[in-house]
Amino acid sequence: MALYLKAAEVLDKVEQKKGAVKTLVYDSGFENIKQLYALVCETQKYSSVLQQIIESTRLLKETKLRLSLAKVLVYDLLFGRGVKCGGSWKAMMVKHRSRLQAALARIKVKQKVSRNEDLLPPSVQDKNAHSIPRYVRVNTLKTTVEDVIDYLKREGYSYQGTARRIEDLRHLSGKMFMGDVHLRDLLVFSAKMDFHNHYLYKAGHLILQDKASCLPAYLLDPPVGGHVIDACAAPGNKTSHLAAVMKNKGKLFAFDLDAKRLSTMSTLLLRAGVTCHQLANQDFLKVDPLAPEYKDVKHILLDPSCSGSGMVCLPDGGSEEQDGERLQALSAFQLHCLNHALRFPQLQRVVYSTCSIHSQENEEVVSACLEKNPGFRLVHLFPEWPERGHGPLTQCLRASTTETLTHGFFVAMLERQTTPSDGESLDIAPSAMDLATSAPTGGEEQQTQRPSSEISVEQPNFTTKKKRRNRKKHKKQES
Ligand SMILES: C[S@@+](CC[C@H](N)C(=O)[O-])C[C@H]1O[C@@H](n2cnc3c(N)ncnc32)[C@H](O)[C@@H]1O
Repeated sequence: MALYLKAAEVLDKVEQKKGAVKTLVYDSGFENIKQLYALVCETQKYSSVLQQIIESTRLLKETKLRLSLAKVLVYDLLFGRGVKCGGSWKAMMVKHRSRLQAALARIKVKQKVSRNEDLLPPSVQDKNAHSIPRYVRVNTLKTTVEDVIDYLKREGYSYQGTARRIEDLRHLSGKMFMGDVHLRDLLVFSAKMDFHNHYLYKAGHLILQDKASCLPAYLLDPPVGGHVIDACAAPGNKTSHLAAVMKNKGKLFAFDLDAKRLSTMSTLLLRAGVTCHQLANQDFLKVDPLAPEYKDVKHILLDPSCSGSGMVCLPDGGSEEQDGERLQALSAFQLHCLNHALRFPQLQRVVYSTCSIHSQENEEVVSACLEKNPGFRLVHLFPEWPERGHGPLTQCLRASTTETLTHGFFVAMLERQTTPSDGESLDIAPSAMDLATSAPTGGEEQQTQRPSSEISVEQPNFTTKKKRRNRKKHKKQES
């Protein structure tokens, strides 16, 4: 019931232009943000069809529901998972179900279509053609990729091996799933798969996280036992990913300004078994880089507030107000945060990411920061990744629904060119990249035969020789 109430509340606010869906969902304080976000987005997509159904059945008059609530309930009844609540709303929906179904059928006949998707406006159908798979990150703090695969196979899911190309991920349907082509801890399912009620999700073994949003922690690759800052951390998916990379050892300082989001985060981290963190309801810009507790911080993940223009949701591309003034304010804030991150005296690497597609929040922020901080340079990330930062910043990564089958995203990594003391070049092995590039691409048989030590992303002893070789290659790429 709470889900429907919240979804209706968010829909109302969106329609009154009180904010962007993403922001309103995050600010709602609802525990399952992804579920709420999906319901609001899907209801919005079908909004005009839902309106027709509700009007033709006089549902509001008969039930006294308000329009937004009726829309989310009818959406879930006819297009979604079926109304998943008890009480009077469930009874109401069950009572009117056949009339609502008949109204939907009449609309389909009138429009001469057979599938629900064909009722969507053409602009939405275009976006759906690029619908992105469901990515599920295996939480290696609680389980292993092999155990999850075995568990799911026993439940009737069909494992198709590790994808060889991004294209392979387009063809997943029903209960089929694959290992991701780039990231080893990631399993990929059809877009329609919903794990919110699955035991492995509820137990914190699976994290529902878009592939692009897994890149920052994966590429930052802090060492086990390191001291790391997650500067704008809530709701915490990247924090739990960092903790997994660090094997829960070391110190993970996580800051966020928003107390509500931090409290959601706290629950999520508990569920994920994260213990190496220290949460603070604090403005990152006010964190003193010279404070003794941060003297060993060498890695920072900075994923600051952004326009969210890369999030695929609405027919109009997110209905985020992308006016110049707002973007300017956001990019000024992002630059401020990035400059601040570089002030930590022992910092080696910072990963900067946004779920925005605007250069103003991405390449332009990074360029301005590098100009101000000549002691740092860009790391050429993940050579195999198909979508690069806009020139000349091709060392950075971009992601999109069309090229990488993910939400729109941007990642840059800056590293200190010389250590503060000796002027030597830093010795930073791109082990996350090594592992991703060497990801085996075999079928199911091959996957099950591989020793478990090869499958784990965070193998500390990943062949030193290879690391050295790659370090050289890595350095060449930068020069
Ligand atoms: C894009 S979200 C972070 C998402 C998060 N990294 C994750 O993966 O779950 C940006 C966050 O930055 C927080 N924020 C905004 N300004 C901040 C500041 N000055 N200091 C710390 N956090 C801030 C917001 O409250 C919001 O939770």
